[in-house]
Amino acid sequence: MAGRETGLMSAGGLAAFAGGAIVAVIASRVLPPLLAGAAGRVAGGDPFDALAEDHRRILALLDAMERTHASATFRRTQLLLRLKRRLAAHALAEEDVIYPLLHDRAREEEDTRRLYAEHADMKMHLFALEMMPKDDPAWPGRVSELRMLIAEHVHQEEEVDFPKLREALDRRATARLSGTVRREKALLL
Ligand SMILES: [Fe+2]
Ligand SMILES: [Fe+2]
Repeated sequence: MAGRETGLMSAGGLAAFAGGAIVAVIASRVLPPLLAGAAGRVAGGDPFDALAEDHRRILALLDAMERTHASATFRRTQLLLRLKRRLAAHALAEEDVIYPLLHDRAREEEDTRRLYAEHADMKMHLFALEMMPKDDPAWPGRVSELRMLIAEHVHQEEEVDFPKLREALDRRATARLSGTVRREKALLL
């Protein structure tokens, strides 16, 4: 007689199923960043253009949040979660890859520390928005403060710090950076 039956599945079958499920979960968490890294290496691409494109999308989400009516509480929650996710992935790539290079390779120590500190401010604004009742009259003002902070921050990155880092890296290092940035973002997106 084959292994002890559990009714629906034998013990061996159950173990194989559980093993398969674990492999699937690991694959779903590990493969996207690996594939994204590989795609980035193949496609090359410009990491700074990709980050600037993120900036446009983040600002567009903030514009949409600012335009919402106080009665649209579900829409506000939805937009806030989308902003949080996109900003988190973008910040992860900058904090783990771009800013350390800006610090070490472009030798912009002061700028780097300020950029890290501004990301921390953004997170505090996000927390305040998350805690706020979504029909709170203070919502548009708080969103607009966060938008101003982000707009100034991305202007500094695009006009000052990204060009400095671009200058400090050769073409091969820039192409490699593209894959690394994609891989970091794929950890969260
Ligand atoms: Fe940033
Ligand atoms: Fe950025």
